Amino acid sequence: MNKKAILLAGGAGTRLFPLTKIVCKQLLPIYDKPMICYPLATLMLGGLREVLIITTPKDLPMLRDYLGDGEQLGIRIEYAEQPKPEGIAQAFLIGAKFIGDAGASLILGDNIFYGKLDFYRHALAIERGACIFGYQVRDPQRYGVVEFDTQGKAISLEEKPKQPKSHFAVPGLYVYDERVVDLCQTLRPSARGELEITDLNLLYLGQKQLHVKLLSRGMAWLDTGTQTSLLEAGNYIATIEHRQGLKIACLEEVACRMGFISQSQLSALIDRLPKGEYRDYLRIVCDEGPNAGPASVG
Ligand code: G1P
Repeated sequence: MNKKAILLAGGAGTRLFPLTKIVCKQLLPIYDKPMICYPLATLMLGGLREVLIITTPKDLPMLRDYLGDGEQLGIRIEYAEQPKPEGIAQAFLIGAKFIGDAGASLILGDNIFYGKLDFYRHALAIERGACIFGYQVRDPQRYGVVEFDTQGKAISLEEKPKQPKSHFAVPGLYVYDERVVDLCQTLRPSARGELEITDLNLLYLGQKQLHVKLLSRGMAWLDTGTQTSLLEAGNYIATIEHRQGLKIACLEEVACRMGFISQSQLSALIDRLPKGEYRDYLRIVCDEGPNAGPASVG
């Protein structure tokens, strides 16, 4: 059965105040489009078409206004509330009915991945267990951290350790089999009052059912949690887009290249967009045909 996708766009975005006083964090611009486009594009590029967006009661109407039910992108988007920031793993309890008997992949609404996404497609194809990733960072203490033995096998996982045992952070992109909801039901809140995704991953690790794949250094995993990282992410996207003349995480383009909508559906959609650079870009994509040139999906 195809896995369901959860995009968790929770949190009050307090670290980004006052940017987030009115506008929800996941709608802040990363260069030329709202932040949420990037994680949503990652899910779509993984081939997932059923998405549950979980967000705060305050932000839900804004996100729904922006993305609707997904029909224009050839996907199905549902929405659910996470009233309080009670942890990433809580998303699977909130989404239990949506997930049903399928497994699920979760992405955090402020995580940006850029590069070849084969690692993700392979993870989605694993039937039993869970799959998480490791990515080398300078400041691992800000993240979940995974430690490997000399054979490259994951041996420990810690949430924001003061003394990290490695430089490998666990990015906010996870894949789980159909046991995920049941396992989340056994979790208890951590000292900070959250159902920790790291605790869920530890359950899979304990059962020897956790796959941990290292992302190559050629991948970009960007974080947008602070003013500086937000700006850096925007500059990164702008640099690549200017160089190539291609847009990153342009949802309508992704939908068409993935075959979720046809060229004529894309064309009709473009007609409804306001005049401007974004529309001009999509018109070129549409006229060239989604399979033209080296511009296939990442
Ligand atoms: C969360 C997770 C952490 C993970 C990070 C990725 O951290 O708890 O394990 O490495 O996302 O972005 P938080 O969003 O609480 O900083």
